[in-house]
Formats: sequence, C-alpha cells, structure tokens
Amino acid sequence: MLPTILTNIPGLRSKQLAKRLSQVESPGITYLAEDFPVFWDKALNANIWDIDGNCYLDFNSAFGVAGIGHSNPEVVEAINKQASQLIHGMGDVHPPHLKVEFLENLLSLLPESLNSAILSCNGSDACESALKTAQVYTQKAGIIAFSYGYHGLGYGALDLTHKPHFRKPFEERLTEFTFHAPYPNTYHQGEEAAQISLNEVNKLIQKHKNLIGSIIIEPIQGRGGVIVPPIGFLKALREICDQNNLLLILDEIYTGFGRTGSMFAFEYENIIPDLICLGKTIGGGLPLSICIGRSEIMQAWGLSNGESVHTSTFLGNPLACAAGIAVIENLKQNNWPQKNSQTGLYLLEKLKQLQSPFIGEIRGRGLMLGIELVQNIQTKIPFTNLANYVLTESLKKGLILLSSGTHGQVLSLSPPFVITESEIDFAVETLQMVLNSANSDTKLK
Ligand SMILES: Cc1ncc(COP(=O)(O)O)c(C=O)c1O
Repeated sequence: MLPTILTNIPGLRSKQLAKRLSQVESPGITYLAEDFPVFWDKALNANIWDIDGNCYLDFNSAFGVAGIGHSNPEVVEAINKQASQLIHGMGDVHPPHLKVEFLENLLSLLPESLNSAILSCNGSDACESALKTAQVYTQKAGIIAFSYGYHGLGYGALDLTHKPHFRKPFEERLTEFTFHAPYPNTYHQGEEAAQISLNEVNKLIQKHKNLIGSIIIEPIQGRGGVIVPPIGFLKALREICDQNNLLLILDEIYTGFGRTGSMFAFEYENIIPDLICLGKTIGGGLPLSICIGRSEIMQAWGLSNGESVHTSTFLGNPLACAAGIAVIENLKQNNWPQKNSQTGLYLLEKLKQLQSPFIGEIRGRGLMLGIELVQNIQTKIPFTNLANYVLTESLKKGLILLSSGTHGQVLSLSPPFVITESEIDFAVETLQMVLNSANSDTKLK
C-alpha cells in the first residue's frame, strides 16, 4: 500500500510521546529531536501506521527483521495459538516441545554438516554463543574480526564490533583477544581490496599463532554500509581457516533467510562455515537468534550436568519458536530467496536511474542494497548531514529509511520481501525528490 501522510511529521501525538519518553527513558537510548521519531502504532506487510494515523512504507524491514512482512498473518496465527497454550518454558531444564520442532525445521534449511544449535534471543547473544563455542573448541581465545563489522553490543559481541562510537566508552574493559583486519571495500580501496585484507589476515595469524582460533565475518556488511566483498574473498578466508586450523564463523544475522537472494549468503561462494549466527527475519518479529555449528564442534561443550555453562532464561521460548516455525514454512512456500533476487534486480535497476550529484555508489545483493552518498564539491554538504536530511525528508513523505556506514553516509535499503513494484517505484521517486531538494535546501549548508 502506498503511504498516506495526514499530519505534519512527526504528528502531535508523536511529539507528545517523545516528551513523555524523555522523562522515563535513559537519554542515551532513543534519538529524540524536533523532526524525529514517529511512534508506531500498528503494521502490516510493508506498511507502518503511526500514532497520528499516518501510513508509511518501511524500506528497512525494521532493522531487517520484518522479512516476510510486518504482522505476517501466518506468524500472527501461530503466536495466537501458542499464546493460549504455553508462553514460557524452561528452555534448558524442562523445554517446550516446540524447541525440538523449531530446531529440526531450521536445520533442514542448512547444509547437513551444520547440525547442532544454541538458541538465544538477540543477534548479539548468538555472536556470543559463537565466540564462546569457538574458544571452548579451539582452546584459543583470539579471534579475527573486520573493520566496521557489527556483531551487537553485549561485552563479548562488542569486542568484535569495530565502530569506535560503540567501543570508546568501554575500551578499558574490552579485550586484547580481538584483532580487526580491513573488510574489503572496492569502492574505497579499489581492486586491491581483497588482497589488502587477506594479507592483513595472514599477518595477524602469523603474529598471534598461539592465540587466534577463529575468524568472524559478515558475508555482506550491513551496518558497516552494505559492503559486498569481492567474489572469491570468502572462499579465500575459508581456505586460510582450513590451512591454519581456524574456525570460520559467519554472522548471517542480517543476510540470512533469503534477504540477499539465496537462503544464506554463503551459498554464493559455495563455502560452508564452521559456525553460523542467525537472527532477525527468523523470529517474524519476536526476539529469536541461533548459533549453529558442526556437532563435532558443539560437542566441545561436553554434556550438561544439570547446570549448563551457557544458557539463558528465555532460551527456546515457545512463542518465538512457534513464530520461527511459521516463518520457515512461509519462506519455503513463497520461495522468497529466488523472488528476492528478482525483486532486488528490479529495485537495483530503478535506483540506477536516480540522477544526483550526491550518489557515489549503488550496491548490494538481493533485497540488501545501499546507496553511498558523497560530498558534492560545489555544495560542500557533509555527507552525514546529507544522509540525515534524506532520512527526515523521506519520512515526511512516508518513506522509512535508515543509514549505515562509517559516517552514516550510506542509505540502507532492505525492504520486506513482500514489497511490490509500485511500492518500489514510490520509494525511488521519493528518493529522487528528496535528493533534488537537498541541492537547494539551505538547512543543509
Ligand atoms: C550482522 C549483525 N550481527 C549482529 C547484530 C546484533 O543483533 P541484535 O541487535 O539483535 O543484538 C546485528 C544487528 O543489526 C547485525 O546486523
């Protein structure tokens, strides 16, 4: 459905809520400004309605979560049914039966060798499960991660996450066990990008031989700015891991479940990771994440003696598992990976028709696309201001976008899989209008 904007954005009720929120929430959490945010009231498919009755198009799937659409009817039915049956279980003590059914369904989507899982709630938790599993198995605490990678903000995951903005206040407490190599970025580093990165990875492995046991990477960087590594790069990493007895951990929390045009992004390179982290789309909107690995690796944890070394209260939550089963069924029934590949091409073609001196590069795969903005020499508008301008002006026209990248200079386009061609046309026309107006808007100078 195309957006309908009825009020100034944000509307009065959103503004009132922002004021109330500022009284009750820690100020470091929600960004509150004159023109931001709008408070959501309900959602369906790719549409969001705010508390003032305005209808928007969500071109970000709410952080990449609403893959199969907001309030997908099959997910809603599964949650409703489960809610009257069992809302909470004792995940690692007396588990809900849905934990077994969900995991069996989930593992059927993955290569046979990835057959043992640890459940959790957030993406950050899944990365921490991978981090701990790698250490337990390899007996080495060191890990290589990549520049501008994002793996979450729990202390373990934060150690892997690169952006100084997140690390700086906690630097003292972060460990000396994570080594960051450059993520290959052909837009900024040219054709040498992969080699620069691989050389650094090899150097780190040689230098810290007795320490490094694993490598973690996003197969396409999401929050880092929708960066697609050159073909062959992940395969080369796989080979380096094999040669040096390291585990390859893929963080597919963003890319997983069809987003990039295949069920998992690793399929493009025909490689299989040792551990994979999944989240976002799979919960259909409920918090659900998983770390999956080869059983031989998971066996390093040993048998639980009744007090698991690694667990949490909501592990295997039955509502989330019921939603997850419905999501998997929906992914299969609709063949979303293949459809996303086609819809992504349609979107990419449309984006390439955009005319603006602010566009540096348009890139991505499937329904995970990004537009890197550049500073225009004549206007000298800083690109962070420009990206923020695009977000707020698009919002006023009914288009919800997010930015990503080192300086927030990349517009992230990850719409729900259910997005239609007319909705895509609307989004691209809106972007064109907003980019045109950026040229002349004095607010930006
Ligand atoms: C690739 C990746 N890993 C991990 C995370 C962290 O997930 P969460 O915010 O659910 O902890 C994110 C979140 O955006 C992500 O994109």
